[in-house]
Amino acid sequence: MIRELLDWQLFCIQLSSYIDLDVQKIIQASHEMKEKAYCPYSKFRVGAALLCQDGTVITGCNVENASYGLTICAERCALTKAVSEGHRRFKAIAISSDLKTSFIVPCGACRQFMVEFGTDWNVYMTKPDDTYKLLKTGELLPLSFVPESLEEERINPKA
Ligand code: THU
Repeated sequence: MIRELLDWQLFCIQLSSYIDLDVQKIIQASHEMKEKAYCPYSKFRVGAALLCQDGTVITGCNVENASYGLTICAERCALTKAVSEGHRRFKAIAISSDLKTSFIVPCGACRQFMVEFGTDWNVYMTKPDDTYKLLKTGELLPLSFVPESLEEERINPKA
């Protein structure tokens, strides 16, 4: 009995350190991605790193444009890269910026982009000191319009 309990405890410790390692990996990758940010207008660097269900890590950074509205956020950069590489199932995303005292939070457009791929995966919003705030995609965008919304019964489906 005690042996089984100890084995179970060891299993849990191994599992939690494994999960933490993956989280540490994407947090670190998101910090590093800030170096790649193309942000000559805002000078506001953002990095992101996605953890796919199969363990693949896909990164992104913000890419600005002289036509300001065309700017792509780091999160959407990572997501479009991932989808174009064949990944659609995600465990988590980590986001980094240079903000000293606040956790970087995703903008509304990026939240919408995230819930397209599920409302129950993890968003790690970090600070440069490696601390983070964790919320689910669905918590960041409650009452969201998702792919299933398009399947709901409509009064005029042929319109
Ligand atoms: N930005 C991101 O990349 N992600 C966010 O979640 C917030 C904002 C970028 C867009 C723009 O290049 C700069 O930060 C300032 O808005």
